[in-house]
Amino acid sequence: MRTRRTLLYVPGSDWRKMEKAASLGADCVCLDLEDGVAPSSKTEARLLISKALSELDFGRSERLLRVNSADSGLQAEDLRLAGHPSLQGLVLPKAGSAADVQAVGHVLLRAEQERNLPPNTLSLLTQIESAMGLVNLKEIASADPHLVALVFGSEDFASDVGAIRTPQADEIFYARSAVAIHAAAFGLQAIDMLHVNFKDAAGLSQLAAQGARLGYSGMQIVHPDQIAPVVAAFTPSAEEVAWAQRVVDGYEQHAAEGRGAFALDGKMIDMPLVKAARRVLARAGY
Ligand code: COA
Ligand code: MG
Repeated sequence: MRTRRTLLYVPGSDWRKMEKAASLGADCVCLDLEDGVAPSSKTEARLLISKALSELDFGRSERLLRVNSADSGLQAEDLRLAGHPSLQGLVLPKAGSAADVQAVGHVLLRAEQERNLPPNTLSLLTQIESAMGLVNLKEIASADPHLVALVFGSEDFASDVGAIRTPQADEIFYARSAVAIHAAAFGLQAIDMLHVNFKDAAGLSQLAAQGARLGYSGMQIVHPDQIAPVVAAFTPSAEEVAWAQRVVDGYEQHAAEGRGAFALDGKMIDMPLVKAARRVLARAGY
């Protein structure tokens, strides 16, 4: 599966920022038509996004578009951009049901036919950011074969349930964890909440490290300065890689001798730790 550590939002109404985003090397660039764009600028943003997809070179960044939600009255018009030859996938906000996801999945299938692409080449990432979205997680996570990731929208979620946000974020912890668990259960990636205070690098690093510990594979970001700390948090350190390699090597050596559990540096190593070590190596690109 594609590496998605950083998902950078860029307002589709802001040409300068789209130009800039093309050069930053984020894993995913998400050209936004939803909440980053004023209601009066949606039409202009659709035109600018089409121009950006045609003219800008986004390098190895995945070219994504966030459309408006199913109940916005704007989505049908937004989805016309799915046929753009340069677009690689869509982000669906405020998914509340499997039907919301399937409606966009059908549009992607049609776009694939028009663009002569094999079925399920285009990606769909869906945001879980409402009480109903959380309650229906299981149905949403298995709704459509285009789906590659669940994305946790913490601020909309808190507002939908009437939670009062605190820096500790205890009030959204259950939902944050549930999204990561459902993604794992259905073989999807999980993209973590935003840190809206984009000048707070220390707070961002802390939040991103916590997300990685919860099983998230990446994080949403809104500013270029957030790329490096998030990449660092979602990339295993040299020490973690070295330890993981010793665990896997040790396991293979002992398994060849017919032994399961073994001791390494005074710790008991068995299958769950070996699996975790293999995941660390995979995340590090081994
Ligand atoms: N994508 C690409 N470039 C960005 C960017 C983004 N999301 N945010 C900032 N930049 C660029 C700016 O254009 C500026 O570059 P320049 O001087 O070469 O033009 C540089 O990074 C520094 O920006 P800065 O002055 O610190 O921020 P700002 O005041 O211009 O913008 C925000 C601050 C929050 C408005 C902006 O980061 C932003 O629009 N983020 C995305 C918001 C969004 O999409 N929200 C919806 C999804 S949650
Ligand atoms: Mg949102």
